Amino acid sequence: MKPSQSESSNPKQPAARMVVIAIDGTSGSGKSTIAKSLARHYDFVHVDTGAMYRAVTWHCLQHGADCNDAAAVVRAMREMKSDFRLCDGRIVMFINGADPGEALRSEAVTQNVSLVARIPEVRAWLVAQQRELLRFGSLVMEGRDIGSVVFPDTPFKFYVDADPAVRAARRAGDGYADQITRRDQLDSTRKVSPLVVPPGACLVDTGKNTPPQTTALVLAELKRRGL
Ligand code: DC
Repeated sequence: MKPSQSESSNPKQPAARMVVIAIDGTSGSGKSTIAKSLARHYDFVHVDTGAMYRAVTWHCLQHGADCNDAAAVVRAMREMKSDFRLCDGRIVMFINGADPGEALRSEAVTQNVSLVARIPEVRAWLVAQQRELLRFGSLVMEGRDIGSVVFPDTPFKFYVDADPAVRAARRAGDGYADQITRRDQLDSTRKVSPLVVPPGACLVDTGKNTPPQTTALVLAELKRRGL
């Protein structure tokens, strides 16, 4: 389960100047679109932490672990070999030497990921890995607990949301059959690190603007906060 210390760490940025932009929010709210734009703009590393919870879920399903059985999930996770690599500006979690790729977006993974993400041992392990990703450079990290738990001290925090109907239509438009309200409910009511608006976060409603307009608003806010 230990990630390798990757040789592909970004040597451009000295450790003292590392910055984290935390993007939290609901499913289908447009976090990824914002995170990718910001990573490109600042030349920071993009980290999709949802993909990490999906990778653990995928591995469990591959090994026949019942995602409702926390002990079975933790056992499967501990047997898994993972490492994190920087590929085209984003972090990819390799499982047993392979990138699961599009399998992370399968219906089976999407239906089970909230069950896996509520298990304290899974969260503790992934949060530790996420903090260590600073070795790759400054980060734009998206998820559900980045500004509240993973990097609570960063001044650059956003909470992204949109009307549920808008979000469901977006997911359908992207070709995913997704029960976003069920996932939101599981993510917001779990005991460990539930989805919350982190203290100090700037609220972003992506239902009101086009993606370029939203990015412009976020960039203006980051500038106002000193980035
Ligand atoms: O962003 P996504 O839909 O790929 O996330 C998949 C699931 O992972 C989602 O149901 C919530 C969970 N998640 C989490 O609990 N904490 C994170 N930091 C990121 C995702």
